Amino acid sequence: MDRAEKRHKLLVTRKLPDDAEAAFAKAFDCQFNPEDKPYTPDALCRAADGCFGLAITSMDKFNADLIGKLPASVKIISTVSVGHEHIDLAAVKAKGLVATNTPGVLTDATADIALLLILGAARGAYWGERMVRENRWPGASMVKPLGHDVSGQRLGIIGMGRIGQAVAKRARAFGMTIHYHNRKELSPAEAEGATFHATLEGMLPHCDFVSINCAMTPETKNLINARTLALLPKGAIVVNSARGGIVEDEALISALTSGHIAAAGLDVFAGEPNIDPRYRDLPNVFLLPHLGSATLRTRTNMGLRALDNLTAFAQGKAPRDQLT
Ligand code: DGY
Repeated sequence: MDRAEKRHKLLVTRKLPDDAEAAFAKAFDCQFNPEDKPYTPDALCRAADGCFGLAITSMDKFNADLIGKLPASVKIISTVSVGHEHIDLAAVKAKGLVATNTPGVLTDATADIALLLILGAARGAYWGERMVRENRWPGASMVKPLGHDVSGQRLGIIGMGRIGQAVAKRARAFGMTIHYHNRKELSPAEAEGATFHATLEGMLPHCDFVSINCAMTPETKNLINARTLALLPKGAIVVNSARGGIVEDEALISALTSGHIAAAGLDVFAGEPNIDPRYRDLPNVFLLPHLGSATLRTRTNMGLRALDNLTAFAQGKAPRDQLT
C-alpha cells in the first residue's frame, strides 16, 4: 500500500471480523467502532468529518437527509452487504458520490440459509427442536408430529440472480423441480432445466415451495401479499432469505393461520429486529435472525470486498462493484 493511500481517513461504522479490520487498518487511517454501537445520524456526520469514505453495513440507513448532511470530505459510501436498499442511491448520485456493495462473496452462505429455511419450515425443525429441548417428546407415533416432504416438490424461485441460482443448485440435489420468475430469462446453461415464468402470477400456481431471492426495490415491496399468496396451491411453503419488506406480514400471518400456507421459513423481517410479534406464536414458522451471510469467512470476505472497492476508489480507479 503506498504512503499517499495510508493517509486517507475512513470511517467504519460497525464492527467487522478481526481479519477484515486488520486489512482495513493496513490500507487506511481507520476509525473503527469497537463497541459496535450504532451511530445516530448527527454523530455519524461528526465522525465522518475529514474521511474520504465510509464503510457501512445494511444496518445503517442512509436516507436522502443523512446523505445531504454528510461532510464534503466524504466521496464514497461502501456498504459491506450485497443489499443496498438502505442507501438512497438517487441522493448519492445527486451529491456526486460513489456507492458500492459486495456481490458474489455471500452467495453460497445465503443459499445455504435458504435451504435451511426450506428444510426447517417443511420438516418442523422449530417444533421438533422445542419438543426435545423442553422435554415434551411424548414418544413414538406414526401419525404425529408430521412435516412435509421436500424431495420431489416444485420450488419457485423469485429472483434468479447469483443467489437464486445457487439455491436452485442446492434444491436440485434435494430432488426438487425448479421454476423461476426473473426480470429476464436465463440462458439454457444458467437455467439448468429450470422453467421460466415471465410473471409471478404465472409461476405461483406451480409451486409447492417459494423461495424469495430478489432484491428489495420499490417494485418488490410487499410482492408477497394476500393476492399473490392466494395464487399458491393450498399447503405451499414460503421462505424468505432476501429482505423482510418483500413480504406483507399481515397477509402471510393470516395465510399461515388459516392453513392456506402450511409453513414459512423466515431469516429476514420488515423492521428487524422488531419483528411482528405474532410470528413468535405461530407453530408453523421457522425463524432465524438474519443469518444469511453470517459466517466468519463470509463476513470477512464481505469486508475485504468492500475494502477492494475503497482501495480502487482511493487509487483513482473505478471500483468493481460501483452502484452509482
Ligand atoms: C446482505 O449482504 O445484503 C445481507 O443481507 C447482510 O446484510
